[in-house]
Amino acid sequence: MFYTIIGTQWGDEGKGKIVDWLSSKADWVVRFQGGNNAGHTIKVDNSIYKLNLLPSGIIRNKKCVIGNGVVLDPWALNNEILNLQKQGIKITKKNLFIAENVCLILPIHKIIDEINETSRGDENIGTTKKGIGPAYEDKVGRRAIRLCDLSSPDLLKKKLNKLINFHKPRLIENNIKIDFSLIYNELLTIAKTIIEYNSPVWKQINDAGEKGDIILFEGAQGSLLDIDFGTYPYVTSSNTSSGQIFSGSGFGIKNNHTILGITKAYTTRVGSGPFPTELNNEIGEHLGNKGQEFGTVTKRKRRCGWFDSILVKQAIKISGITDVVLTKLDVLDELEVIKVCVGYKINNNNFDYLPFSESLQASIEPIYESLPGWQTSTFGISSWDNLPVNAKKYIEFLENTIGLKISIISTGPERLETIDKNKLLDTI
Ligand code: GDP
Ligand code: IMO
Ligand code: MG
Repeated sequence: MFYTIIGTQWGDEGKGKIVDWLSSKADWVVRFQGGNNAGHTIKVDNSIYKLNLLPSGIIRNKKCVIGNGVVLDPWALNNEILNLQKQGIKITKKNLFIAENVCLILPIHKIIDEINETSRGDENIGTTKKGIGPAYEDKVGRRAIRLCDLSSPDLLKKKLNKLINFHKPRLIENNIKIDFSLIYNELLTIAKTIIEYNSPVWKQINDAGEKGDIILFEGAQGSLLDIDFGTYPYVTSSNTSSGQIFSGSGFGIKNNHTILGITKAYTTRVGSGPFPTELNNEIGEHLGNKGQEFGTVTKRKRRCGWFDSILVKQAIKISGITDVVLTKLDVLDELEVIKVCVGYKINNNNFDYLPFSESLQASIEPIYESLPGWQTSTFGISSWDNLPVNAKKYIEFLENTIGLKISIISTGPERLETIDKNKLLDTI
Protein backbone atom coordinates (compact mmCIF):
# COMPACT_ATOMS: atom_id res chain seq x y z
CA MET A 1 0.00 0.00 0.00
CA PHE A 2 1.18 3.49 -0.83
CA TYR A 3 0.36 6.79 0.80
CA THR A 4 1.09 10.33 -0.32
CA ILE A 5 0.94 13.39 1.90
CA ILE A 6 0.22 16.64 0.04
CA GLY A 7 -0.29 20.14 1.49
CA THR A 8 -3.50 21.61 0.04
CA GLN A 9 -2.85 25.27 0.88
CA TRP A 10 0.32 27.42 1.01
CA GLY A 11 2.43 25.00 3.07
CA ASP A 12 2.83 24.52 6.84
CA GLU A 13 -0.44 22.59 7.09
CA GLY A 14 1.07 20.11 9.57
CA LYS A 15 2.46 17.59 7.05
CA GLY A 16 5.37 16.66 9.35
CA LYS A 17 3.05 15.70 12.21
CA ILE A 18 0.85 13.54 9.95
CA VAL A 19 3.81 11.85 8.22
CA ASP A 20 5.21 11.00 11.65
CA TRP A 21 1.81 9.70 12.83
CA LEU A 22 1.30 7.56 9.73
CA SER A 23 4.90 6.41 9.49
CA SER A 24 4.39 4.20 12.54
CA LYS A 25 2.98 1.79 9.90
CA ALA A 26 5.34 2.61 7.00
CA ASP A 27 8.50 0.86 5.85
CA TRP A 28 9.76 3.72 3.69
CA VAL A 29 9.31 7.52 3.69
CA VAL A 30 10.25 9.34 0.48
CA ARG A 31 10.78 13.06 -0.28
CA PHE A 32 10.25 13.79 -3.99
CA GLN A 33 10.47 17.59 -4.47
CA GLY A 34 11.57 20.84 -2.85
CA GLY A 35 14.58 21.14 -0.63
CA ASN A 36 15.50 22.71 2.67
CA ASN A 37 12.92 25.45 2.08
CA ALA A 38 10.61 22.97 3.83
CA GLY A 39 10.26 23.02 7.59
CA HIS A 40 8.39 20.06 9.03
CA THR A 41 7.91 20.02 12.80
CA ILE A 42 7.36 16.89 14.86
CA LYS A 43 6.61 16.90 18.57
CA VAL A 44 7.15 13.72 20.56
CA ASP A 45 6.70 14.10 24.34
CA ASN A 46 9.09 16.89 25.32
CA SER A 47 11.19 16.78 22.16
CA ILE A 48 10.67 18.92 19.09
CA TYR A 49 12.30 17.84 15.82
CA LYS A 50 12.63 20.23 12.91
CA LEU A 51 13.22 18.61 9.53
CA ASN A 52 14.10 20.43 6.35
CA LEU A 53 15.56 17.87 3.96
CA LEU A 54 15.32 14.57 5.76
CA PRO A 55 12.04 12.69 5.45
CA SER A 56 10.04 12.83 8.68
CA GLY A 57 10.15 9.01 8.95
CA ILE A 58 13.75 9.32 10.19
CA ILE A 59 12.35 10.03 13.68
CA ARG A 60 10.90 6.50 13.79
CA ASN A 61 14.01 4.97 12.19
CA LYS A 62 12.18 4.13 8.93
CA LYS A 63 14.03 3.73 5.63
CA CYS A 64 14.20 7.27 4.31
CA VAL A 65 14.73 8.38 0.75
CA ILE A 66 15.67 11.72 -0.77
CA GLY A 67 14.47 11.38 -4.35
CA ASN A 68 15.87 12.92 -7.52
CA GLY A 69 13.13 15.58 -7.60
CA VAL A 70 14.64 17.25 -4.53
CA VAL A 71 17.37 19.90 -4.75
CA LEU A 72 19.92 19.06 -2.10
CA ASP A 73 22.22 21.45 -0.22
CA PRO A 74 24.99 19.13 1.05
CA TRP A 75 26.05 21.54 3.81
CA ALA A 76 22.48 21.96 5.05
CA LEU A 77 22.01 18.18 4.98
CA ASN A 78 25.20 17.61 6.94
CA ASN A 79 24.11 20.13 9.63
CA GLU A 80 20.64 18.60 9.83
CA ILE A 81 22.09 15.12 10.28
CA LEU A 82 24.46 16.34 13.03
CA ASN A 83 21.68 18.22 14.85
CA LEU A 84 19.30 15.26 14.77
CA GLN A 85 22.04 12.87 15.87
CA LYS A 86 22.60 15.18 18.87
CA GLN A 87 18.88 14.69 19.65
CA GLY A 88 19.43 10.92 19.65
CA ILE A 89 18.12 10.11 16.15
CA LYS A 90 19.94 7.34 14.33
CA ILE A 91 21.02 8.25 10.77
CA THR A 92 23.22 5.80 8.91
CA LYS A 93 23.47 4.35 5.43
CA LYS A 94 21.02 1.70 6.63
CA ASN A 95 18.15 4.19 6.95
CA LEU A 96 19.06 7.06 4.61
CA PHE A 97 19.27 6.70 0.82
CA ILE A 98 19.83 9.60 -1.56
CA ALA A 99 19.19 9.44 -5.31
CA GLU A 100 22.42 9.40 -7.29
CA ASN A 101 20.88 11.86 -9.74
CA VAL A 102 19.71 14.45 -7.20
CA CYS A 103 20.86 17.97 -8.19
CA LEU A 104 22.87 20.00 -5.69
CA ILE A 105 22.33 23.45 -4.25
CA LEU A 106 25.70 25.20 -4.07
CA PRO A 107 26.61 28.39 -2.17
CA ILE A 108 26.39 30.27 -5.49
CA HIS A 109 22.66 29.44 -5.68
CA LYS A 110 21.97 31.08 -2.34
CA ILE A 111 23.85 34.19 -3.50
CA ILE A 112 21.79 34.33 -6.71
CA ASP A 113 18.54 33.80 -4.74
CA GLU A 114 19.46 36.86 -2.65
CA ILE A 115 20.41 38.93 -5.74
CA ASN A 116 17.13 37.96 -7.47
CA GLU A 117 15.03 38.91 -4.47
CA THR A 118 16.79 42.28 -4.08
CA SER A 119 16.36 43.05 -7.77
CA ARG A 120 12.61 42.32 -7.56
CA GLY A 121 12.24 45.22 -5.09
CA ASP A 122 8.65 45.64 -3.87
CA GLU A 123 7.58 42.67 -5.98
CA ASN A 124 9.88 40.19 -4.27
CA ILE A 125 8.54 36.68 -3.79
CA GLY A 126 9.71 36.40 -0.21
CA THR A 127 11.70 33.23 -0.89
CA THR A 128 13.41 31.33 1.89
CA LYS A 129 16.76 32.34 0.28
CA LYS A 130 17.95 28.74 0.37
CA GLY A 131 18.88 28.80 -3.33
CA ILE A 132 15.91 26.63 -4.38
CA GLY A 133 14.84 28.55 -7.52
CA PRO A 134 18.37 29.08 -8.91
CA ALA A 135 19.26 25.40 -8.30
CA TYR A 136 16.16 24.22 -10.20
CA GLU A 137 17.00 26.69 -13.00
CA ASP A 138 20.44 25.07 -13.35
CA LYS A 139 18.84 21.63 -13.34
CA VAL A 140 16.49 22.54 -16.20
CA GLY A 141 19.38 24.34 -17.93
CA ARG A 142 21.28 21.02 -17.88
CA ARG A 143 24.33 22.38 -16.08
CA ALA A 144 23.62 21.23 -12.49
CA ILE A 145 26.05 19.20 -10.42
CA ARG A 146 24.52 15.95 -9.21
CA LEU A 147 25.35 13.81 -6.21
CA CYS A 148 26.94 11.15 -8.43
CA ASP A 149 29.39 13.77 -9.81
CA LEU A 150 31.00 14.10 -6.37
CA SER A 151 32.78 10.77 -6.77
CA SER A 152 34.60 11.90 -9.95
CA PRO A 153 36.90 14.81 -8.94
CA ASP A 154 38.01 15.60 -12.52
CA LEU A 155 34.49 15.65 -13.92
CA LEU A 156 33.36 17.69 -10.90
CA LYS A 157 36.10 20.26 -11.55
CA LYS A 158 35.04 20.59 -15.19
CA LYS A 159 31.34 20.91 -14.39
CA LEU A 160 31.88 23.37 -11.55
CA ASN A 161 34.04 25.53 -13.80
CA LYS A 162 31.31 25.62 -16.46
CA LEU A 163 28.65 26.41 -13.89
CA ILE A 164 30.57 29.28 -12.32
CA ASN A 165 31.44 30.69 -15.75
CA PHE A 166 27.78 30.64 -16.68
CA HIS A 167 26.88 32.77 -13.65
CA LYS A 168 29.98 35.01 -13.75
CA PRO A 169 28.44 38.05 -15.55
CA ARG A 170 25.64 38.27 -12.96
CA LEU A 171 28.11 37.95 -10.09
CA ILE A 172 30.50 40.58 -11.50
CA GLU A 173 27.58 42.95 -12.05
CA ASN A 174 26.82 42.60 -8.32
CA ASN A 175 30.47 42.91 -7.20
CA ILE A 176 30.58 39.35 -5.93
CA LYS A 177 33.83 37.44 -6.22
CA ILE A 178 33.75 33.65 -6.27
CA ASP A 179 36.78 31.63 -5.20
CA PHE A 180 36.66 28.56 -7.48
CA SER A 181 39.23 26.48 -5.57
CA LEU A 182 37.54 27.21 -2.25
CA ILE A 183 34.14 25.91 -3.49
CA TYR A 184 35.76 22.95 -5.23
CA ASN A 185 37.74 21.92 -2.14
CA GLU A 186 34.75 22.43 0.13
CA LEU A 187 32.67 20.23 -2.18
CA LEU A 188 35.30 17.50 -2.11
CA THR A 189 35.35 17.66 1.69
CA ILE A 190 31.56 17.57 2.11
CA ALA A 191 31.37 14.80 -0.50
CA LYS A 192 33.07 12.43 1.93
CA THR A 193 30.22 12.77 4.42
CA ILE A 194 27.24 12.52 2.04
CA ILE A 195 28.42 10.26 -0.77
CA GLU A 196 27.94 7.19 1.43
CA TYR A 197 24.14 7.66 1.17
CA ASN A 198 24.29 7.65 -2.66
CA SER A 199 21.91 4.97 -3.96
CA PRO A 200 19.78 3.89 -6.97
CA VAL A 201 16.67 4.75 -4.98
CA TRP A 202 14.21 4.52 -7.89
CA LYS A 203 15.06 0.82 -8.10
CA GLN A 204 14.94 0.24 -4.34
CA ILE A 205 11.47 1.73 -3.90
CA ASN A 206 9.99 -0.06 -6.92
CA ASP A 207 11.40 -3.37 -5.67
CA ALA A 208 10.12 -2.62 -2.16
CA GLY A 209 6.66 -1.72 -3.51
CA GLU A 210 6.49 -4.94 -5.52
CA LYS A 211 7.27 -7.05 -2.47
CA GLY A 212 4.51 -5.38 -0.45
CA ASP A 213 6.36 -2.78 1.62
CA ILE A 214 4.38 0.25 2.76
CA ILE A 215 5.74 3.42 1.20
CA LEU A 216 4.84 6.92 2.28
CA PHE A 217 5.59 9.89 0.01
CA GLU A 218 6.13 13.13 1.92
CA GLY A 219 5.25 16.28 0.00
CA ALA A 220 6.77 19.63 0.89
CA GLN A 221 5.18 23.08 0.49
CA GLY A 222 1.55 23.11 -0.66
CA SER A 223 -0.65 23.06 -3.77
CA LEU A 224 -0.88 26.85 -4.02
CA LEU A 225 2.93 27.05 -4.17
CA ASP A 226 3.07 24.65 -7.14
CA ILE A 227 5.11 26.10 -10.04
CA ASP A 228 2.26 25.29 -12.49
CA PHE A 229 -0.93 25.42 -10.44
CA GLY A 230 -0.01 27.84 -7.67
CA THR A 231 -0.29 31.62 -7.42
CA TYR A 232 2.49 32.13 -10.01
CA PRO A 233 4.96 33.88 -9.81
CA TYR A 234 4.53 33.83 -6.01
CA VAL A 235 5.30 30.12 -5.81
CA THR A 236 8.21 27.80 -5.22
CA SER A 237 10.17 26.32 -8.14
CA SER A 238 8.92 22.73 -8.04
CA ASN A 239 5.68 20.86 -8.63
CA THR A 240 4.17 20.28 -5.23
CA SER A 241 1.16 18.28 -6.45
CA SER A 242 0.95 14.49 -6.26
CA GLY A 243 1.85 13.92 -9.94
CA GLN A 244 5.40 14.84 -9.00
CA ILE A 245 5.92 11.69 -6.92
CA PHE A 246 6.51 9.66 -10.09
CA SER A 247 9.08 11.90 -11.76
CA GLY A 248 10.60 13.02 -8.45
CA SER A 249 11.35 9.51 -7.19
CA GLY A 250 11.12 7.14 -10.15
CA PHE A 251 8.29 5.21 -8.48
CA GLY A 252 6.04 3.71 -11.14
CA ILE A 253 3.37 1.78 -9.29
CA LYS A 254 -0.03 3.49 -9.41
CA ASN A 255 -2.52 1.12 -7.75
CA ASN A 256 -3.37 0.95 -4.01
CA HIS A 257 -2.56 4.59 -3.57
CA THR A 258 -4.17 6.74 -0.88
CA ILE A 259 -3.52 10.47 -1.26
CA LEU A 260 -4.01 12.47 1.91
CA GLY A 261 -4.53 16.22 1.55
CA ILE A 262 -3.24 17.94 4.67
CA THR A 263 -5.44 20.97 5.28
CA LYS A 264 -5.36 23.55 8.05
CA ALA A 265 -8.74 24.41 9.61
CA TYR A 266 -8.01 28.02 8.52
CA THR A 267 -5.45 29.37 6.00
CA THR A 268 -1.89 30.68 6.34
CA ARG A 269 0.74 31.90 3.94
CA VAL A 270 4.35 32.97 4.44
CA GLY A 271 5.92 35.21 1.80
CA SER A 272 4.28 37.50 -0.76
CA GLY A 273 1.39 36.95 -3.16
CA PRO A 274 -2.40 36.89 -3.30
CA PHE A 275 -4.37 35.58 -0.32
CA PRO A 276 -8.11 36.18 -0.84
CA THR A 277 -9.26 35.35 2.72
CA GLU A 278 -6.40 37.08 4.56
CA LEU A 279 -7.41 38.75 7.83
CA ASN A 280 -5.51 41.94 8.54
CA ASN A 281 -7.29 42.42 11.83
CA GLU A 282 -7.41 41.16 15.41
CA ILE A 283 -8.84 37.78 14.34
CA GLY A 284 -5.84 37.26 12.04
CA GLU A 285 -3.54 38.23 14.93
CA HIS A 286 -5.39 35.83 17.23
CA LEU A 287 -4.98 32.90 14.79
CA GLY A 288 -1.28 33.74 14.39
CA ASN A 289 -0.67 33.84 18.15
CA LYS A 290 -2.80 30.86 19.10
CA GLY A 291 -1.50 28.77 16.17
CA GLN A 292 2.08 29.94 16.74
CA GLU A 293 2.24 30.82 13.09
CA PHE A 294 5.89 31.64 12.64
CA GLY A 295 7.92 30.10 9.81
CA THR A 296 9.98 27.05 10.80
CA VAL A 297 12.68 27.94 8.25
CA THR A 298 12.80 31.75 8.20
CA LYS A 299 11.00 32.58 11.50
CA ARG A 300 8.81 35.02 9.55
CA LYS A 301 5.29 35.72 10.80
CA ARG A 302 2.78 33.76 8.73
CA ARG A 303 -0.18 35.66 7.27
CA CYS A 304 -3.50 34.19 8.53
CA GLY A 305 -7.05 34.07 7.17
CA TRP A 306 -10.31 32.13 6.97
CA PHE A 307 -10.66 28.68 5.41
CA ASP A 308 -10.89 28.94 1.62
CA SER A 309 -12.88 26.02 0.23
CA ILE A 310 -12.27 27.13 -3.39
CA LEU A 311 -8.53 26.61 -3.06
CA VAL A 312 -8.80 23.30 -1.20
CA LYS A 313 -11.35 21.98 -3.71
CA GLN A 314 -8.92 22.80 -6.51
CA ALA A 315 -6.02 21.05 -4.72
CA ILE A 316 -8.19 17.95 -4.20
CA LYS A 317 -8.85 17.69 -7.94
CA ILE A 318 -5.30 18.47 -9.12
CA SER A 319 -3.65 15.99 -6.74
CA GLY A 320 -6.37 13.31 -6.89
CA ILE A 321 -6.75 13.53 -3.12
CA THR A 322 -8.74 10.66 -1.63
CA ASP A 323 -8.98 11.79 2.03
CA VAL A 324 -8.61 15.13 3.76
CA VAL A 325 -6.74 15.50 7.06
CA LEU A 326 -7.91 18.61 8.91
CA THR A 327 -5.23 20.05 11.23
CA LYS A 328 -5.09 22.71 13.95
CA LEU A 329 -8.82 22.59 14.67
CA ASP A 330 -7.97 23.61 18.26
CA VAL A 331 -6.69 26.99 17.05
CA LEU A 332 -10.30 28.01 16.30
CA ASP A 333 -11.51 27.12 19.82
CA GLU A 334 -12.11 30.64 21.14
CA LEU A 335 -13.83 32.18 18.13
CA GLU A 336 -17.46 33.26 18.44
CA VAL A 337 -18.10 33.14 14.70
CA ILE A 338 -16.09 31.28 12.06
CA LYS A 339 -16.26 32.18 8.39
CA VAL A 340 -15.64 29.92 5.41
CA CYS A 341 -15.08 31.18 1.88
CA VAL A 342 -17.49 29.32 -0.44
CA GLY A 343 -17.02 31.27 -3.68
CA TYR A 344 -15.32 34.25 -5.31
CA LYS A 345 -16.81 37.35 -6.88
CA ILE A 346 -14.47 38.88 -9.44
CA ASN A 347 -15.59 42.01 -11.33
CA ASN A 348 -19.20 41.05 -10.55
CA ASN A 349 -18.82 37.51 -11.91
CA ASN A 350 -18.98 34.42 -9.73
CA PHE A 351 -16.06 31.98 -9.81
CA ASP A 352 -15.88 28.52 -8.24
CA TYR A 353 -12.13 28.23 -8.96
CA LEU A 354 -9.02 30.40 -8.75
CA PRO A 355 -8.30 31.95 -12.17
CA PHE A 356 -4.60 32.12 -13.13
CA SER A 357 -4.59 35.77 -14.24
CA GLU A 358 -2.76 37.92 -11.69
CA SER A 359 -5.11 40.85 -12.31
CA LEU A 360 -8.20 38.71 -11.73
CA GLN A 361 -6.60 37.25 -8.59
CA ALA A 362 -6.03 40.79 -7.31
CA SER A 363 -9.76 41.58 -7.66
CA ILE A 364 -11.16 38.59 -5.77
CA GLU A 365 -13.92 39.31 -3.27
CA PRO A 366 -14.52 36.19 -1.17
CA ILE A 367 -18.12 35.09 -0.57
CA TYR A 368 -18.44 33.89 3.03
CA GLU A 369 -20.78 31.74 5.04
CA SER A 370 -20.69 32.23 8.83
CA LEU A 371 -20.88 29.42 11.35
CA PRO A 372 -21.15 29.59 15.13
CA GLY A 373 -17.93 28.75 17.02
CA TRP A 374 -17.82 26.20 19.86
CA GLN A 375 -15.90 28.29 22.41
CA THR A 376 -14.58 25.39 24.39
CA SER A 377 -11.28 23.52 24.19
CA THR A 378 -10.79 20.79 21.60
CA PHE A 379 -7.05 20.63 22.30
CA GLY A 380 -5.84 17.03 22.41
CA ILE A 381 -9.24 15.41 21.76
CA SER A 382 -8.72 12.02 20.13
CA SER A 383 -12.25 10.76 19.54
CA TRP A 384 -14.97 12.14 17.24
CA ASP A 385 -17.65 11.64 19.89
CA ASN A 386 -15.88 14.01 22.29
CA LEU A 387 -15.85 16.96 19.89
CA PRO A 388 -18.27 19.80 20.68
CA VAL A 389 -21.39 19.81 18.47
CA ASN A 390 -20.45 23.05 16.68
CA ALA A 391 -16.96 21.72 15.90
CA LYS A 392 -18.57 18.64 14.30
CA LYS A 393 -20.92 20.94 12.36
CA TYR A 394 -17.95 23.02 11.17
CA ILE A 395 -16.16 19.89 9.93
CA GLU A 396 -19.30 18.61 8.21
CA PHE A 397 -19.80 22.00 6.58
CA LEU A 398 -16.24 21.87 5.23
CA GLU A 399 -16.83 18.33 3.91
CA ASN A 400 -19.85 19.60 1.99
CA THR A 401 -18.08 22.62 0.52
CA ILE A 402 -14.94 20.75 -0.55
CA GLY A 403 -16.89 17.67 -1.65
CA LEU A 404 -14.71 15.12 0.15
CA LYS A 405 -14.67 13.33 3.50
CA ILE A 406 -12.42 14.54 6.29
CA SER A 407 -11.23 11.29 7.77
CA ILE A 408 -8.52 12.49 10.15
CA ILE A 409 -8.62 15.51 12.45
CA SER A 410 -5.62 16.87 14.33
CA THR A 411 -6.24 18.69 17.60
CA GLY A 412 -2.66 19.25 18.79
CA PRO A 413 0.96 18.84 17.70
CA GLU A 414 1.51 15.42 19.34
CA ARG A 415 0.91 11.96 17.86
CA LEU A 416 -2.01 11.04 20.09
CA GLU A 417 -3.76 14.38 19.59
CA THR A 418 -5.40 12.95 16.48
CA ILE A 419 -8.91 11.73 15.64
CA ASP A 420 -8.74 8.78 13.25
CA LYS A 421 -12.42 8.82 12.28
CA ASN A 422 -12.32 5.83 9.90
CA LYS A 423 -9.59 3.94 11.79
CA LEU A 424 -7.12 4.32 8.91
CA LEU A 425 -4.13 3.31 11.04
CA ASP A 426 -5.80 0.02 12.01
CA THR A 427 -6.42 -0.91 8.38
CA ILE A 428 -2.76 -0.62 7.33
P1 GDP B 1 4.48 21.40 7.78
O1 GDP B 1 5.47 22.26 7.07
O2 GDP B 1 3.25 21.16 6.95
O3 GDP B 1 5.06 20.12 8.29
O4 GDP B 1 3.99 22.24 9.04
P2 GDP B 1 4.94 23.06 10.06
O5 GDP B 1 5.67 22.09 10.91
O6 GDP B 1 5.73 24.08 9.34
O7 GDP B 1 3.84 23.86 10.88
C1 GDP B 1 2.82 23.21 11.59
C2 GDP B 1 2.93 23.58 13.08
O8 GDP B 1 1.72 23.26 13.73
C3 GDP B 1 4.02 22.79 13.81
O9 GDP B 1 4.56 23.59 14.80
C4 GDP B 1 3.24 21.61 14.42
O10 GDP B 1 3.85 21.12 15.60
C5 GDP B 1 1.95 22.28 14.75
N1 GDP B 1 0.76 21.41 14.68
C6 GDP B 1 0.50 20.38 13.82
N2 GDP B 1 -0.76 19.92 14.00
C7 GDP B 1 -1.30 20.69 14.98
C8 GDP B 1 -2.60 20.73 15.60
O11 GDP B 1 -3.51 19.99 15.25
N3 GDP B 1 -2.80 21.68 16.57
C9 GDP B 1 -1.82 22.54 16.95
N4 GDP B 1 -2.11 23.43 17.90
N5 GDP B 1 -0.60 22.53 16.40
C10 GDP B 1 -0.35 21.63 15.42
P1 IMO C 1 6.70 23.41 4.10
O1 IMO C 1 7.15 22.12 3.47
C1 IMO C 1 5.47 27.55 3.51
C2 IMO C 1 7.34 29.74 0.20
C3 IMO C 1 8.27 30.90 0.56
C4 IMO C 1 8.02 31.81 -0.64
C5 IMO C 1 7.86 30.83 -1.79
C6 IMO C 1 9.13 30.63 -2.62
O2 IMO C 1 7.27 23.66 5.45
O3 IMO C 1 5.21 23.54 4.03
P2 IMO C 1 11.41 29.31 -2.17
O4 IMO C 1 12.46 29.52 -1.12
O5 IMO C 1 10.80 27.95 -2.19
O6 IMO C 1 11.87 29.75 -3.53
O7 IMO C 1 10.24 30.35 -1.77
O8 IMO C 1 7.49 29.59 -1.21
N1 IMO C 1 7.68 28.44 0.83
C7 IMO C 1 6.99 27.90 1.84
N2 IMO C 1 5.95 28.38 2.55
N3 IMO C 1 5.93 26.32 3.75
C8 IMO C 1 6.95 25.81 3.03
O9 IMO C 1 7.37 24.53 3.15
C9 IMO C 1 7.57 26.62 2.04
N4 IMO C 1 8.59 26.46 1.17
C10 IMO C 1 8.65 27.58 0.43
O10 IMO C 1 7.90 31.50 1.77
O11 IMO C 1 6.78 32.47 -0.48
MG1 MG D 1 6.54 24.03 7.35
